Amino acid sequence: MNEFAAALLNWFDQSGRKHLPWQVRDAYRIWISEIMLQQTQVATVVPYYERFIQRFPNVNALAAAPLDEVLHLWTGLGYYARARNLHRTAQQLIAHHQGMMPKTLDEVQSLPGIGRSTAAAILALSYELPHAILDGNVKRVLTRYFGIHGPTSNKQIEAQLWQRAQQCTPTTRVANYTQAIMDLGALVCTRSKPLCHACPLATQCIANVQTLQSQLPTPRPKRTRPQREVYVAVISDESDAILLQQRPASGIWGGLWVCPQFDDAESCHTFIHSKVTNAKSLQKMPVIQHSFTHFDLTLRPYWAANAIARTVIADETGYCWYHPHRPAHIGLAKPVLDILKYLQIATSAIEVSDV
Ligand code: ADE
Repeated sequence: MNEFAAALLNWFDQSGRKHLPWQVRDAYRIWISEIMLQQTQVATVVPYYERFIQRFPNVNALAAAPLDEVLHLWTGLGYYARARNLHRTAQQLIAHHQGMMPKTLDEVQSLPGIGRSTAAAILALSYELPHAILDGNVKRVLTRYFGIHGPTSNKQIEAQLWQRAQQCTPTTRVANYTQAIMDLGALVCTRSKPLCHACPLATQCIANVQTLQSQLPTPRPKRTRPQREVYVAVISDESDAILLQQRPASGIWGGLWVCPQFDDAESCHTFIHSKVTNAKSLQKMPVIQHSFTHFDLTLRPYWAANAIARTVIADETGYCWYHPHRPAHIGLAKPVLDILKYLQIATSAIEVSDV
């Protein structure tokens, strides 16, 4: 066995995690856990995983369930496409693979929502097949150990890392090795302040020997993120209720409630004047910056205070009056919370100056 794997397995026997609830020889459970663990920490996943397995103990139960129920058990875990893909995969496993997880990398990788590293993890952990994994934690371990400079999103660097990952993967104790390299990345070879004194690979690790831990992995080059802006109608009445509108189910803030928003200031003002009978002067509120995964959004709110609104607004479907003092149980987008906070401050400031 190669030196890297031997040292890592030795460390795993003493310090690795051996009692995670998905550490069982059951490809179904391992698959569910690997999907949940994409972009999500172990501590967050554990209770979701347990509820999920209790409700869907096998692939038949999952395939037969309504999608809404799968999504319900996913609520709060984020990245909901994962749940939809799990459900579709369960149905494909029943239809094309006798309800079993297939045993080749190509077949597993062709299932919805399963990339190369997740496919390799499922096969290594379930069936001891010697496929290398390369998730974020493993990339960090390998760039440091081998002193690989350059952003890991770069195709050539990534190819080099896959080669190293495969070269380090042993042909025996594959499941333990796979868990071990993930554990080392999560517990010891952390992004900041790695615990090199506790690392079984420290003496051979280029980053440790050359004190390059803070430089490796090389940070990804800063891309200029697309910038967008919207104009926001903040309409509040004398009881501090504000007018909200529900977003469509798909897209940003899908299904959540927001202040009505517009692409330009004129449409925003026209909307306010069409809905509010006494909207003479609008107040500009401080701009709000909000970052999404793929772009930054600047919100420019205009406030019509003490609005005497045409009552028709609240009756139109998709709108509601939100009373901060007796809030309804609806999901609010983050900028609405910022606006409510500002309104509270602004309102109390007016009260104070009135005294
Ligand atoms: N992250 C991804 N897969 C994992 C696993 N099996 N155990 C702990 N963390 C993980």
